[in-house]
Amino acid sequence: MSSLMIKALAFAAALIVATLVVVKQMNVNLDDPINQLTLLGAVAIAVLTFGVSAKYVNQMKTDKAGGELAEENWDGIGEYKNELPGGWAYAFLGTLIWTVWYFLWGYPLNAYSQIGQYNEEVKAYQAKYEEKHANPDQPTLNQMGKSIFLVQCAPCHGITGDGMNGKAHDFTARMSKEQVLDVINNGQNQRYDR
Ligand code: HEC
Repeated sequence: MSSLMIKALAFAAALIVATLVVVKQMNVNLDDPINQLTLLGAVAIAVLTFGVSAKYVNQMKTDKAGGELAEENWDGIGEYKNELPGGWAYAFLGTLIWTVWYFLWGYPLNAYSQIGQYNEEVKAYQAKYEEKHANPDQPTLNQMGKSIFLVQCAPCHGITGDGMNGKAHDFTARMSKEQVLDVINNGQNQRYDR
C-alpha cells in the first residue's frame, strides 16, 4: 500500500472518529436501524472519498498515457483513440431509442400528460362530490360550514370567532348602527375590531 493511501485512510479514520464523537454527544439512539444505516453510510462515504481520491492521485503521479494516437494533431498535441466505455454507449443508445418512442408513441401523440391525468381525476372527484352533496340537509350544511370556518377563517378569527384579541374582526359582538354608518361613510380602518 502506498504512503499516500495510508495517509488517506488515516484521514478517513479521523473523520469517522470525529463523526462518532458527534453522534455520541447528540445522544443518537443506535438501536434504531435507520440510524445504524446512516452511520454505516457515513463510514462508507469517508472511506470511499479518501480511498478513491488517493487511488486517482497516485495514478496521476505514476500513470503513462498509452494506446493508439489519432492521425490529426493540434500544434503537436495529439489525441488517443479511446474506445467508448460500453455502459456509456449503451446508455446513449437507450436514450436515443427512448427519444423516438417518446415522440412517436409516448407524448404528445397519445396526448398523455401527468397534469392532464390530474385534471381528469380532480374533475371526476368533484362530480362524485357534487352528487354526494347534491341535496344536503341542515345538519350536514352546518357541519360543512363549520369545517370551512375552521380551515379558512379560524386561523385569524379564532376557533370561537372572537378575533383572537383583535387579530381579526370579532364575530361575537355586532357593530352598532353608528359604527355601520361610520364604515359606510368613512370606510373601515379596523377602528371597531378591538
Ligand atoms: C388572514 C387572516 C384572515 C382570514 C383567514 C379571514 N379573515 Fe376575516 N378578517 C380579517 C381581518 C384582519 C379583518 C378586519 C379587517 C378590517 O376591519 O378592515 C377581518 C374582517 C372580517 C369581517 C368583518 C368585515 C367588516 O368590514 O367588518 C368578516 C365578516 C370576516 N372577516 C369574515 C371572514 C370569514 C367568513 C373568513 C373565512 C372564510 C375570514 N374572515 C377569514 C382577517 C382574516
